[in-house]
Amino acid sequence: MTAFSTLHYEFCIQNITCHRSEFRVGLTRVSGLLFGGDYNPEQWPERVWEEDVRLMAEAGVNMATVAVFSWSRLEPRPGEYDFGWLDRVLDLLHEHGVAADLATATATPPPWLVRDHPEVLPVDAAGTRLEFGSRQSYCPSSPVFRDAAVRLVRAMAARYGRHPALALWHIGNEYADHVLECFCAESARHFRTWLESRHGTVDGLNAAWGTSCWGQHYTAFDQVEPPRKAPGPVNPAQVLDWRRFCSDALLECFELERAVLREATPDVPVTTNFMSILHGLDYWKWAAAEDVVSDDAYPDPADPESHVAVALSYDLMRSLKRRPWILLEQAASAVSWREVNAPKPPGMMRLHSLQALAHGADGAMFFQWRQARYGPEKFHSALLPHGGTAARGWRDTLRLGADLRRLAEIAGTGTRADVALLLDWDSWWGLEAPESMPSDRLRLKDLLLSWYRPLHARGVAVDLVPAGRDLSGYRVVIVPNLYLCTPEQAGRLAAFDGHLVVGPFSGVVDAADQVHDGGAPGPLRELLGLTVDEFWPLPDGRVQRVRPVTGAVTGARADAAAVPARTWAEWLRVEDAEVLARYEGGDLDGQPAITRRGRATYLSCLLDDVTPVLSEVLAAAGVRPVADVPEGVEATRRGPYLFLLNHATTPARMDLAEPGTDLLTGRELRGRIEIPARDAVVLRTGAGPTEGER
Ligand code: GLA
Repeated sequence: MTAFSTLHYEFCIQNITCHRSEFRVGLTRVSGLLFGGDYNPEQWPERVWEEDVRLMAEAGVNMATVAVFSWSRLEPRPGEYDFGWLDRVLDLLHEHGVAADLATATATPPPWLVRDHPEVLPVDAAGTRLEFGSRQSYCPSSPVFRDAAVRLVRAMAARYGRHPALALWHIGNEYADHVLECFCAESARHFRTWLESRHGTVDGLNAAWGTSCWGQHYTAFDQVEPPRKAPGPVNPAQVLDWRRFCSDALLECFELERAVLREATPDVPVTTNFMSILHGLDYWKWAAAEDVVSDDAYPDPADPESHVAVALSYDLMRSLKRRPWILLEQAASAVSWREVNAPKPPGMMRLHSLQALAHGADGAMFFQWRQARYGPEKFHSALLPHGGTAARGWRDTLRLGADLRRLAEIAGTGTRADVALLLDWDSWWGLEAPESMPSDRLRLKDLLLSWYRPLHARGVAVDLVPAGRDLSGYRVVIVPNLYLCTPEQAGRLAAFDGHLVVGPFSGVVDAADQVHDGGAPGPLRELLGLTVDEFWPLPDGRVQRVRPVTGAVTGARADAAAVPARTWAEWLRVEDAEVLARYEGGDLDGQPAITRRGRATYLSCLLDDVTPVLSEVLAAAGVRPVADVPEGVEATRRGPYLFLLNHATTPARMDLAEPGTDLLTGRELRGRIEIPARDAVVLRTGAGPTEGER
């Protein structure tokens, strides 16, 4: 079990290097699970603050995220600081037992900075400079922005590094939310430096980018530009490097601030709030740079399936550091940024919070504490709604606070998964390059979900893993797609001694987006025993049937139904593999569709439903679900705790394999149980408490 009981000093001792023990005792102890939200007191007169902290204490709030967008209030003029108001806020919070997730306040530069240095404002791909008046209005590569941010962080650390409320540093905010990339001259310069360190020489860059195509041969780095709007498709290798660069440029901003904090407050952990499964940032790399993973998740209440996609992102958060993480933001009810912002019906806010815990979070926090009266988020829900303590939402807040106290003992427990899903950002960026692929319908999130959905439905625990990691210990590894696959990554997959499932269009290109010798699946050829002769993307609406070969897949009978595939198929040349299923009808009639060599299964198509293949692999690998659950019920386990979450709008009945105590009600449960609609059971079972993360 990974020790992460709380964000107090024990956490510090066990998970990050502590150089100065005296800081430990200065930290506020936050025991149990974290509960609270973004708190923006500068939007309210001070008399409201007293009420805020009183109500926070009443609801059991133990952490508040403060100062996220406060730069212009903390440094109203260059070098002139006004910390008085934040001093009073932090003191008040501390007096009421609320710890601070203290932001470095750099998410929006102040107006004076962008007026004195207009070049700080970001520029889009068409060359338009984006105006001030929203947030994140800065170019990630701007030295002016970076220097000013570092100066502010130094001042923040000096001022609050020893404040007893400080539990966690919150660097920036949702990096890449509004500005992932900037195309200004400064970014171009920075991109060139980045390219020089990656490719060494301009000839190295020419070779990697294949600039012999379309006459793009460069003779100097200063001829290279970001992939701005061009007459036609931009070199996909250039776009891939640009994606890498943009993720790295923002990470540098994060790291510059982190360096200041590490030096000033080595005992205080740092985080930055992720945005679930985000295309723009390589979260494997980012997570390695922070002490605690935190996430913001906003499943759409109007989408009855949204709890599945969000579960996948929660599993990613747990997997990033193989430790508990914090749900730092979610909505109490409606958000304000969709075209139609559906509220959460009764029970959903609590259920969604419990769901994050079920997937390894040690806290359920919100955006935000008090609902705003002005600004773009005045209609965004909050723990304390416009209607105050009389509102329905406030009762939900009180209830959740009480539930989280009842669940305190789960903090620090881990999840053991036998199945891993592979997710790699380089490959994702390559796969979704614009305007040059056989089909732009292959979207990585869809591919991940096509496997995750049935795993989730049957209660199988899943980790996410990056390409190139040692996979030992898992029974099944599923690679929904690995378009970009290096020989080293292929080596890891070949070395895996469990059951491997590889999805289509994998092993196509190398790290420079150049097609492997002999074509796909490149370095996976020997492992899979086949070559892809030709990609066969299917036009929208076209269905290609796939029929299991009798006896090849468990349960396949002579009359086994053909399974529909859409979007993608391949013409395979099978060299040394068993054919499990063949295409039926159409241009590919009779050609192999699904193959197996040893324990490596290859799917050359996108099945509407992968359940038959999945069931067979899970059975062969001896993977058991966490619990046998009826439709609509999600089951996960953390250490000895079994979470059963009923997402359906009707009660669910199921049989418990083991008795236990429901932490939410205190009742002993055994045998047949009923879980009300949008409700949950968190069962303390007799399973060993040390069963934790791998
Ligand atoms: C993100 C941001 C918050 C807020 C919420 C609204 O999570 O970090 O500042 O804008 O979205 O949903």
